Amino acid sequence: MMSKNYDVKDISLAEGGRQRIDWAYREMPVVGLIRERFMKEKPLNTIRIAGCLHITTETANLAITLKAGGAELVLCASNPLSTQDDVAAALVEYDIPTYAIKGEDDKTYYDHILATLDHKPNITIDDGADLVSTIHTRKTELIKNIIGGAEETTTGIIRLRSMHKAGELKYPVIAINDADTKHLFDNRYGTGQSTMDGITRATNILWAGKKVVVCGYGWCGHGVAMRAKAMGAYVIVVEVEPVRALEAVMDGFQVMPLLEASQTGDIFITVTGDKNVIDEHHLKLMKDGAILANSGHFNAEINIPALEKMSKGKKTIRSFVEEYSLKDGRSLYLLGEGRLINLAAAEGHPASVMDMSFANQALCAEYMVKNKGKLETKVHEVPVEIDKEVARLKLRAMGVEIDTLTAEQEKYLSSWEEGT
Ligand SMILES: NC(=O)c1ccc[n+]([C@@H]2O[C@H](COP(=O)([O-])OP(=O)(O)OC[C@H]3O[C@@H](n4cnc5c(N)ncnc54)[C@H](O)[C@@H]3O)[C@@H](O)[C@H]2O)c1
Repeated sequence: MMSKNYDVKDISLAEGGRQRIDWAYREMPVVGLIRERFMKEKPLNTIRIAGCLHITTETANLAITLKAGGAELVLCASNPLSTQDDVAAALVEYDIPTYAIKGEDDKTYYDHILATLDHKPNITIDDGADLVSTIHTRKTELIKNIIGGAEETTTGIIRLRSMHKAGELKYPVIAINDADTKHLFDNRYGTGQSTMDGITRATNILWAGKKVVVCGYGWCGHGVAMRAKAMGAYVIVVEVEPVRALEAVMDGFQVMPLLEASQTGDIFITVTGDKNVIDEHHLKLMKDGAILANSGHFNAEINIPALEKMSKGKKTIRSFVEEYSLKDGRSLYLLGEGRLINLAAAEGHPASVMDMSFANQALCAEYMVKNKGKLETKVHEVPVEIDKEVARLKLRAMGVEIDTLTAEQEKYLSSWEEGT
């Protein structure tokens, strides 16, 4: 049990955090519109919300918006390395209890989750399903008061679907990631840009002319491959799923097994949500000086224990760059301890895409409260009206107008009689 109702690195960082939260808010007009409405309507009055999210300026804006809607909020980090300490401090000043310190060890990470759950939430918001899994294994007495949960990321949804399949999921959860206005933008453009940003900030490498191996061609992989190519890199894609591999080929990337790519790559980036994608037999083949980074949810994508075992020593070369000196004389460089590099070494996604992801979060929290007791215990899609509304609001905020169907077209598109 924490002695105070927050645990942050240094509360005196709050002012800087507040300024950066305001800066991000300028790029979050959809969340802004929702906040204005929430302030008037208070749809979340007296609802206790626990969020296990990356503690960034964008998350702070979501939290402030939920609070404006009447919710009592508490936050902890969804990754030990993704917290922005100035933002955590500022959140405490906004009267939002926050338990998050960048670089916290595994024990502190879970102590922070437990401290967050001491607030007995009615709604959980996860990025990776750690709140849901902790509640279902160690805090089952909380389930009776929970209306529902929301899950931000692909890996969390995979975990929740497998819990549901095993009959273990005990309250409804909404899969925010599966909204079009989330993964098509956040996973693709957000992860694409911020992964390049993280690796660039950590290493200051020149991308032009580098051989970049992207493992996984899902939405995150699409973004990373596209942005690396745009920077002049020669991109190789590694996949296990035939349709996605084919798409990568036709998008103009070279596709090959990782064993082959291991021999030529300069930089390896994993974005699969899978385990030991880069394994010992790949590490053995890599060129001296190869750089390894992960932008998938967990630090399991690169087999770090195997890398440790192959090494005779390691040292920190610069922030977020660890040199592993292998027994065979080569050096491999691991970035950000294999944790999602866009959040470890940079600031995560730009606010403009989180605007859409977190608009879905805020509207789904409202939806869960409106439908309290009516949602089946399973993993739900984001209601399509919410998804479309987020797109409409974003377009409006960007000053983009679109056409509408004429009555004749609506009739034509919903009928089958007319042919050639
Ligand atoms: N860094 C971030 O800020 C951020 C943002 C969004 C999502 N994520 C995380 O990134 C990961 C990927 O998300 P996504 O939405 O792109 O998922 P996705 O399911 O769309 O794509 C993952 C791809 O990886 C492929 N894959 C799986 N195992 C593989 C292997 N061994 N070798 C090669 N390819 C393999 C799959 O076939 C799939 O095409 C997840 O863990 C997700 O939670 C991170």
